[in-house]
Amino acid sequence: MNVGVRSAFRLTAVDQAAFQQIGPDVLEIRLTDRRMRLKRLDKGVLCALAGLAAGPADRDRLREYARSVDPAADLRRLDQELARLASRSALELSCVANGQPVLRAVATSRLAAFDLNPAKAGQLRLSRLSVASVREDVLVVEALAAYTRVCFLDPALGGLLTALATARDLPGIQAALPGHDPELIEAAVTFLLGTGAIVAVDQSGDSGESRHRQRELPDVALHARSRQGLSDQRVGGTFRFAGELDPAPALRARPDGPGFALPKPDLDRLRRTDRSLTDVQESRRSIRQYGPDPITLAQLGEFLYRVARCRTVHPVDESIGLYYEVSDRPYPSGGGAYDLELYLTLPSCPGLPPGMYHYAPDEHLLTLVCDRPEVLGRMLRDASTATGGQQEPPVLITLASRFARLSWKYEGLAYATALKNVGVLYHAMYLAATAMRLAPCALGTGDAATFSEATGCDPLVESSVGEFALGSRASDGGERDVRD
Ligand SMILES: Cc1cc2nc3c(=O)[nH]c(=O)nc-3n(C[C@H](O)[C@H](O)[C@H](O)COP(=O)(O)O)c2cc1C
Repeated sequence: MNVGVRSAFRLTAVDQAAFQQIGPDVLEIRLTDRRMRLKRLDKGVLCALAGLAAGPADRDRLREYARSVDPAADLRRLDQELARLASRSALELSCVANGQPVLRAVATSRLAAFDLNPAKAGQLRLSRLSVASVREDVLVVEALAAYTRVCFLDPALGGLLTALATARDLPGIQAALPGHDPELIEAAVTFLLGTGAIVAVDQSGDSGESRHRQRELPDVALHARSRQGLSDQRVGGTFRFAGELDPAPALRARPDGPGFALPKPDLDRLRRTDRSLTDVQESRRSIRQYGPDPITLAQLGEFLYRVARCRTVHPVDESIGLYYEVSDRPYPSGGGAYDLELYLTLPSCPGLPPGMYHYAPDEHLLTLVCDRPEVLGRMLRDASTATGGQQEPPVLITLASRFARLSWKYEGLAYATALKNVGVLYHAMYLAATAMRLAPCALGTGDAATFSEATGCDPLVESSVGEFALGSRASDGGERDVRD
């Protein structure tokens, strides 16, 4: 079919799409993983859609073709089916100038809703929920609310993004890009509107996106990237670095510094004397006030042993599908990766110099990593601030993820898994602290730069992702005991 000089929408069937008419008014489109049947099509629409098997076609030519076959062809239906096929990843959309695609769009989710007939009157602006990045040397804009990705194949059109940072009407956009063909700019704007990368704004400056203003861009991006169905990227255990990089070991190398062995509890005695699970669950609560008693080394040893020690390390064994070392600990962890390292800030634990310590879960041992009072003070002050300005905790546990433990295996969901692991470990800590009648409280904020200063860890390699405050209880117990 003919290709226009400029076309806002050219449609190209993806390589693996097979088109077949299977009835007088039914067209079947088969992709590798599914098939779609378009039913009750009039002859013109059916012929126009089937024609896509022969090669790329401009939307306007398809409309002309449909009407030439059947003067009563339903052109609205044609647009709807084209948009639907694009959103189901059977078609790619491009904007074309002089026979060359200058913009290309694909659906990133089956929830994408393309509009081949967008109203381009009024003020237009880049969607607030869009992210620009570079892929294979091409500028790419992902419209997260529209579930589409647009590749800027012609670098000259990159200026559109700057122009569309502010709401403008079409003449305003054309005026902001002097030296560009105004008709090409109009076609590109139509394309970006139809793919959802730009949105129309009303007189108050609202695009309708304000209804999502509680959602922050990085949160929306992480959610889409880490769930199947909202991204066309691979999500899951893909082992994409296998063969290229060695997996990080199950256990972190012990930092340099003096070591302090921790006492171990008698687990057999605890099995006999512990409070029941129901009692612990029913009386668990967050406590942010502490009694005068310090947390002893024995309590610290018992708490860490119950919650976080490493029971076993299973070495790599490819014959059983174990491609990286995993370990076994009292709490669960995504992929058995146990990416979380524990660091304890202890200002006044009897028997230990004030400092921040790394916990070695295999040796059940603390290593002093920082004794600078100013840094320790900041860690503890931040913890107090997180509780709304209550007491500084006698024990501050910082949970730090060794990111590569997860990202070597997982694609898309590595960071999301680290945060889920934090939640799991928080709860294990709550339960152990409650069983031991200590005062536990998870903390939602902490300063990753202070953690980096204290430990020397590069935040891109290992960084704090959670904090937990612990102390002894005030004499009233601060606890609703189910037996009271
Ligand atoms: C992920 C998470 C983050 C939390 N962050 C804080 C925090 O920053 N400051 C705080 O005082 N409590 C924090 N908490 C404790 C909650 O406020 C507490 O669990 C909630 O109010 C319910 O009370 P309860 O734990 O006593 O049942 C956090 C809890 C969780 C699970």
